[in-house]
Amino acid sequence: MDIIKLIPSLKSFLKPFYLADKKIGLVPTMGALHEGHLALVRRSKAENDLTVVTIFVNPAQFNNPDDLDKYPRSLDADLALLRDEGVDLVFVPEVEEIYPQPIGISINFSLLENTLEGKFRPNHFGGVAIIVAKLFHLIAPDVAYFGQKDLQQVSIISRLVSDLHFDLEIAMIASVREKNGLALSSRNQRLNEREREQATVLYQSLQFSKTELLLGTSWLDIVERAASLIAEKPLVRLEYLELVNVHDFTLAKEINSQIPQAICIAAYVGDIRLIDNILLSD
Ligand code: PAF
Repeated sequence: MDIIKLIPSLKSFLKPFYLADKKIGLVPTMGALHEGHLALVRRSKAENDLTVVTIFVNPAQFNNPDDLDKYPRSLDADLALLRDEGVDLVFVPEVEEIYPQPIGISINFSLLENTLEGKFRPNHFGGVAIIVAKLFHLIAPDVAYFGQKDLQQVSIISRLVSDLHFDLEIAMIASVREKNGLALSSRNQRLNEREREQATVLYQSLQFSKTELLLGTSWLDIVERAASLIAEKPLVRLEYLELVNVHDFTLAKEINSQIPQAICIAAYVGDIRLIDNILLSD
């Protein structure tokens, strides 16, 4: 497995693969890898000639400096996991390599950005779009893999690809969960035992909401009942529970079988913010 930190070395490494018309899969990550990331890696390995993983904690997507500081970092363990998976190349740039000067552009997705995560984390998606666009330019993959846990991020990135005519495919891979339903996330590492147990109410609320919605219960009623379920867990503070159109993240109040819909949740568990979602079609 090659580990590269500099952009010129990355380009030299990739050149022969472009010339030989090899299929390149990209798995962008911020490290602190878990089985959810490894599911993306395995799909990329199965579908491409070369799998590139990037590890970069992107300061531009953190609106809260404390969150950036506390974001878990475990490079040695990450590299060991990737080596075991047979990854070909890991790109691990320093911040100065990616942002040699202050960022001069901003990307705004208007409506897509102003609901749910966009609303609660101002400028977050602009920062995601900048790093993802840079990685797409630098690596020029055929397919890029993202996890369903960050569903709104997948929508934003799909929109970035179509708006800017990137010549690649976006693959969304289902969330990996612990046995108790908790979606794997690098942030889970920061949960203590009690918080981890109470965090399972996020997925329980999603399942409850989906079941009730399919039974015909009104969305308003569902939100009220799910909020009561969550209120039974003193360490959990609900931020939102919304039914959305997956393509543009407009909010819905009822099932529409003509469009893909999902239920999305965000909550603080202690001081750790977690998100999760469930597709109505699953
Ligand atoms: O999902 C993530 O880990 C990050 O948002 C991403 C896509 C790697 C961009 O920094």
